[in-house]
Amino acid sequence: MDKLVIKGKTPLKGEVKISGAKNAAVAILPAALLIDGICTIDNLPNISDVKLLCEIIEELGAKITWTSNNSITIDSRNLCCTNAPLELTRKFRASYYLIGALLGRCHHVQVGMPGGCKLGARPIDQHIKGFEALGATVDVGQGKITANTDKLVGTSIYMDMVSVGATINIMLASVLAEGTTIIDNAAKEPHIVDVANFLNTMGADVRGAGTDVIKINGVSKLSGNISYSVVPDQIEAGTFMLAAVASRGDLIIKNCITKHLECISAKIIEMGAHAEEIDGDAIHVWCDSKTSKANIKTSPYPGFPTDLQSQMGVVLSISDGTSIINESIWESRFQYTDELNKMGAKITAQGKTAIFEGVDNLYGAPVYATDLRAGAALIIAGVCAEGTTEIYNLEHIDRGYENIEEKFKNIGANIERVSE
Ligand code: UD1
Repeated sequence: MDKLVIKGKTPLKGEVKISGAKNAAVAILPAALLIDGICTIDNLPNISDVKLLCEIIEELGAKITWTSNNSITIDSRNLCCTNAPLELTRKFRASYYLIGALLGRCHHVQVGMPGGCKLGARPIDQHIKGFEALGATVDVGQGKITANTDKLVGTSIYMDMVSVGATINIMLASVLAEGTTIIDNAAKEPHIVDVANFLNTMGADVRGAGTDVIKINGVSKLSGNISYSVVPDQIEAGTFMLAAVASRGDLIIKNCITKHLECISAKIIEMGAHAEEIDGDAIHVWCDSKTSKANIKTSPYPGFPTDLQSQMGVVLSISDGTSIINESIWESRFQYTDELNKMGAKITAQGKTAIFEGVDNLYGAPVYATDLRAGAALIIAGVCAEGTTEIYNLEHIDRGYENIEEKFKNIGANIERVSE
């Protein structure tokens, strides 16, 4: 079992380069199965969720070649199987994108019930509602999902709530459907736009991604031999912004889209830290004094992202005064607060609300990553804490952050991965 050992307390200083977006990559890889051809995908984050997805795609008959650490080609001309390996697909959430992609191309699919971080109930009723509206029959049972159709026909679908996954999945299923599909109350996250751009590069006709109405005019065929670069990761960039603030450091965060980071910049400036964009693709974040309290409510893009809630929780733990976070997306996303309390934080979490009474210092302790973003928060806490922090359950962190300890080491953190 590996653990991260961090000796604090260190102000993080220097430059960090952001990788491609995990949540875009895990949708673009299945989307590449929609064409009977070859795609080259660059700026792909080299993380365990991507490697797992590549393994599944190869089991379906497509051929994947890594041409560099962050580039692959997918040749899906020989796709021969639409029953995805159940055990592998159950290991993570984004395997559900295989449903939209394979239903769209092959009209049949079977995947294991998707797993992923335990953030509370994670129903997929909106995905199923979308597939059924397009003309598929969907069966859920015995730990798997099976969907079939003779043909998919475009229609209007109103989403009951804003769902990233359902919006993308319905886009995937509808690009090859007959006629026009309209997704109303769609999610607007940067990776929705990125997946739509990828689909359009393949010859799809997706309009309005990034607004709450997406219109997909079905096409009869997509074209092969395309190349695409994945959008930079908004959440990784936000993680380093909050690491700079929490550690009272000074970071230049490169290869990001500053427009995607405005909700985070606005909040940290309100708290007394500094953020300045550099040419739209880098951001300078620094903090030279104790930040002040803040109230945070997570919400779909362009609101404050739930995936940065726990990292912000570390900043609030050592800010002046009493802060409140209201988590409006997930039922159970405050498990990390027990771990931060082991390090001296004073957080009371109940239901979807947590109250942070700011303390002067955190102190190193053995702690457990309870999910992917909670793991990132504990790294930030370890960097800020006096003494030594040991972080366990690294498999959560490795799912979504590329070379995390290298990136932190390069900006001054005293962090090592140790095998026990
Ligand atoms: C995606 C992200 C995840 C992020 C979340 C919210 C990926 C792989 N994961 O997850 O990191 O935390 O967006 O930004 O991109 N819901 C339903 N029924 C559905 C679908 C969703 O009730 O069919 C609810 C969920 O329980 C949740 C809310 O809608 O309360 C938002 O979920 P959704 O946006 O779908 O999250 P994911 O796509 O699973």
